[in-house]
Amino acid sequence: MGISHSNIYLASAACVLLSSGIVWQKVCKSPPEWIAELDILGQPRKQKLLGTAVVCGGSIAGTVVARVLADHFDRVILVDPELLDVEKPKTRVMQYNAAHAFLTLFTYGARRLWPNFDTELRAVGGRLVSADVQLHYSGIAVPAPYGDYPGGRLPDSLAMRRSATQKALYALLMQHPTAVNITIWPGTVRGVEAADNQSSIRSVIVRKLDGTEVVLNDIGLVVDCTGRIQAGMKWLEAAGFSLPANLRPFYKPNIRYATLCFSVSPELESRLPIPEFALNSVSQYVHSQHFTYGLSVTALLKTDNDTMQVMLTSSEDNLPRSVPEILPFISRIRGHAPLASWFVKTVEILCENCNEPSFDIIKYVPEQSYVKYHSVPAGALPSNFIAVGDAHIQLNPIHVRQGVSKVMLNAITLNSLLHSIDALVPILPGDFSARYFKKNVARTEGLWDTTRLHDYGSLACEPMAGETRDNGRVARWFELKLISAATQYEEVASVLWHVRNMVAAERALLAPTVLWKALWTRSLF
Ligand SMILES: Cc1cc2nc3c(=O)[nH]c(=O)nc-3n(C[C@H](O)[C@H](O)[C@H](O)COP(=O)(O)OP(=O)(O)OC[C@H]3O[C@@H](n4cnc5c(N)ncnc54)[C@H](O)[C@@H]3O)c2cc1C
Ligand SMILES: *[C@@H]1O[C@H](CO)[C@@H](O)[C@H](O)[C@H]1NC(C)=O
Ligand SMILES: *[C@@H]1O[C@H](CO)[C@@H](O)[C@H](O)[C@H]1NC(C)=O
Ligand SMILES: *[C@@H]1O[C@H](CO)[C@@H](O)[C@H](O)[C@H]1NC(C)=O
Repeated sequence: MGISHSNIYLASAACVLLSSGIVWQKVCKSPPEWIAELDILGQPRKQKLLGTAVVCGGSIAGTVVARVLADHFDRVILVDPELLDVEKPKTRVMQYNAAHAFLTLFTYGARRLWPNFDTELRAVGGRLVSADVQLHYSGIAVPAPYGDYPGGRLPDSLAMRRSATQKALYALLMQHPTAVNITIWPGTVRGVEAADNQSSIRSVIVRKLDGTEVVLNDIGLVVDCTGRIQAGMKWLEAAGFSLPANLRPFYKPNIRYATLCFSVSPELESRLPIPEFALNSVSQYVHSQHFTYGLSVTALLKTDNDTMQVMLTSSEDNLPRSVPEILPFISRIRGHAPLASWFVKTVEILCENCNEPSFDIIKYVPEQSYVKYHSVPAGALPSNFIAVGDAHIQLNPIHVRQGVSKVMLNAITLNSLLHSIDALVPILPGDFSARYFKKNVARTEGLWDTTRLHDYGSLACEPMAGETRDNGRVARWFELKLISAATQYEEVASVLWHVRNMVAAERALLAPTVLWKALWTRSLF
């Protein structure tokens, strides 16, 4: 009796485990909501919302947000001191000339917002190519999931210098039919004023380039797109909104970032030893150093109009500042396997045969930070204020991927929330801001956690208040197991690629079939 009882018990336990395992697998592998929400990105609402939408900052976040808001408001004002002459290099964006790689989610979103995205970007020299960054972790290749796609063609990503991308996006914004309702105000947002009962923002104060101050009234929505400055926090405090003391945690990865841009003639390019498989990728080579050797990424990117960028980073003040210093710097990069010899040879040929490259050196990337607006007590945030892009979360750029795609993810979230507003009551609900930030916690906080905890593996990293470099030990251990498993199992490589391109949710990494492969695999590092 006892035996048969325990058999029944075991059998039913096994059934429960198996079926919950299947459910667990399904939940983890299901596509994230934001992919379905792409369908309504770029779709105008019939009954527009009341009031003026003010976009503060006109860089990548500001451009994308202005386009989204023009589908929801009849009056959108885009304010930025550097919008008078778009051809002029931006001086307020530290990374304007820094090497950038863009992810699939960015392309997916941009195509919805601008159906002519591909044509226009190609016309100005952009390359829409396979979203394979040719990642190598500590010298070891981490494959991309070509087998998942018909004809072995991965979804596209954009390869283009950031400066050119930004100009092209702005041109798209101005060409789109909704541009009739977008007003460009070259100037600086100085602050906001609260409504009498402190529940919303009543007006926005703008200083125009000639020094005059203008007060914008009848505000529908205010979007902070001021990037690294994260000015919104200061505006809200100055307007009397009470924000918690520890609203903006930050840490210092201590990195320096160099981008060398070479002009490469087609004739010289044909002589470079870049393997065929890497040529039509978004970047040709990315080498991410194991964190215990220091946070560093080395990359080669074929960008627009016969340009190629070599990106070098370091936690020490030793970045090359002249051509003869480039190869010795590269030879000091360490890993579990050496850098690809064709990569080193390519850089050597570029150094010997090209004119002097431009050197863009960011001597020190200041701290990474996260304004935790979602932690403000209910009712204390104005209902019509949100932040998008770096104004909300700034991630360490050595993870070469997320900044611009995170802007797109914020924009998808904003668009969906706006579409969910009742057509008969065309005003923002009192909890609009709280809902926006809450949704973003689920979608973007993981990026902040995984990159930060990875960075703590480096001796040079200064953790945020209340944490030590010991935080995230398990996360780092698991990250190394996952990367190791990706070199052996297509399924793991596929999940890792989709999560990194922000087209799968991070929970996909916890699907049982992925988890056990990761745990089973001996770490290569
Ligand atoms: C070195 C480096 C490399 C990077 N590499 C990548 C990469 O490979 N891939 C990737 O996706 N991301 C990368 N990023 C991140 C990416 O650059 C940012 O996430 C992106 O620029 C964010 O855009 P943004 O519009 O939010 O802010 P920003 O581009 O910083 O723009 C802020 C804008 O606000 C304006 N502004 C400021 N204050 C005011 C005010 N008071 N009133 C009006 N306007 C104001 C400024 O003039 C500026 O135009 C990198 C970042 C760095 C630092
Ligand atoms: C790149 O070349 C195209 C012509 O092929 C030109 O229209 C465009 O302005 C160039 N872009 C840059 C950033 O130089
Ligand atoms: C622009 O705004 C006007 C109202 O001022 C509205 O009738 C029109 O539909 C809007 N145009 C677009 C393209 O959104
Ligand atoms: C604040 O005032 C506005 C009108 O100015 C009103 O619509 C809103 O309901 C008020 N909010 C609260 C929380 O009292």
